[in-house]
Amino acid sequence: MAPKLSSATFTGLILPTCILLFLYSTLLPHNTPSSTKLQPSKPSISFTPACNFFNGRWVMDPNRIPMYDETCPFHRNAWNCLRNKRENMGRINSWKWIPEKCRLPRIDPLGFMGLMRNKRIGFVGDSLNENFLVSFLCILRAADSGAKKWKRKGAWRGAYFPKFNVTVAYHRAVLLAKYEWQPKQSAVSDQDGLNGTYRVDVDVPADDWADITDFYNVLVFNTGHWWGYDKFPKETPLVFYKGGQPILPPLEMFDGFKVVLENMILYIQKEFPRKTLKFWRLQSPRHFYGGNWNQNGSCLFNEPLEETQLDFWFDPRNNGVNKEARRLNHQIKEALQGTEIQLLDLTYLSEFRADAHPAIWLGKKDAVAVWGQDCMHWCLPGVPDTWVDILSQLIRHSLEAG
Ligand SMILES: *[C@@H]1O[C@H](CO)[C@@H](O)[C@H](O)[C@H]1NC(C)=O
Ligand SMILES: *[C@@H]1O[C@H](CO)[C@@H](O)[C@H](O)[C@H]1NC(C)=O
Ligand SMILES: *[C@@H]1O[C@H](CO)[C@@H](O)[C@H](O)[C@H]1NC(C)=O
Repeated sequence: MAPKLSSATFTGLILPTCILLFLYSTLLPHNTPSSTKLQPSKPSISFTPACNFFNGRWVMDPNRIPMYDETCPFHRNAWNCLRNKRENMGRINSWKWIPEKCRLPRIDPLGFMGLMRNKRIGFVGDSLNENFLVSFLCILRAADSGAKKWKRKGAWRGAYFPKFNVTVAYHRAVLLAKYEWQPKQSAVSDQDGLNGTYRVDVDVPADDWADITDFYNVLVFNTGHWWGYDKFPKETPLVFYKGGQPILPPLEMFDGFKVVLENMILYIQKEFPRKTLKFWRLQSPRHFYGGNWNQNGSCLFNEPLEETQLDFWFDPRNNGVNKEARRLNHQIKEALQGTEIQLLDLTYLSEFRADAHPAIWLGKKDAVAVWGQDCMHWCLPGVPDTWVDILSQLIRHSLEAG
């Protein structure tokens, strides 16, 4: 670690300083007006020159090719769009995200794994974080084809990369907080025909990630996609508890979401070491068109959306079926204010990509009839590969700066 850091310090800090001093000294004789005293300004060295990777646009780059294919052993069948023969995969993977004011390099798997040697990266949240993880594993495998499946510490899935002693894994915790099905207590004393409820302990993390506070060096959290009445219908509602007691009066789902966020963020701040790098991934937008997932909603698009179309699709004021992403983001951003958890705002760049979901290509005959199209998760290879590019840059910046 030490020699790496110091060589990074040299190229990152000392070298630019020398260049600046050199330039300064060569310029000095020519432009110093004799009357004004030129203060040699301290060259301000910052490792992250305020680059916002989250604003930008997609441009077509026919030379761009994915870093993995359908044979990656970490694929999940329904997202393996190459194997499932999704139309248009070449085009889906030819779009390149160009941030407004800086360059987003593609991840260099070898260089990145060198930086992460002896470290562990964890994802905690719902299947959209799993989608992210699968992309990450398949990309990192380019640096170590000996990668093996890894599942410990409550991880749902993950991989170990022996060449670098690196572990990358996903902990499934769709609400982050612990929740449990509670069947109706007695058939006689039922009030309103409820079969039962889901008890959510707003101040208790789900078991799946309760045991990892000292384990990972980098963590990426998310929650949001399960906070809807399609997952928890009114007949089997979420009921919120704090300190082991029901919260009264009972909270609506969306208010419960806020309370869970606040409490989980408190827990993370309190229980995880300061030096653990923490990110929070904002909502991944869905692209159901013509109805929700259970109303024949579809996403058979060949092109990304235009910027001018985004508000129509996603602005909650337009009350479309995909409105929840921005609505939840608003709450998440508010809850994260003043914390050390970095925002991974991948929503906007993903909003464009109506063309990049598995849609009807799910690899199973009856899947669409049963579940509808998948306009929520992403084809792999695909958009999450760009999320990986951004995350890897932010990790690099944070490690080099800290
Ligand atoms: C592998 O990395 C872990 C930390 O992630 C460390 O505890 C362990 O000692 C490392 N093993 C070797 C052989 O370097
Ligand atoms: C309630 O339970 C009954 C019997 O198990 C089941 O048929 C019904 O679908 C359940 N209703 C809900 C809303 O879960
Ligand atoms: C979905 O499409 C099928 C077949 O076209 C139709 O039978 C069904 O009524 C539609 N469902 C909804 C909710 O629109």
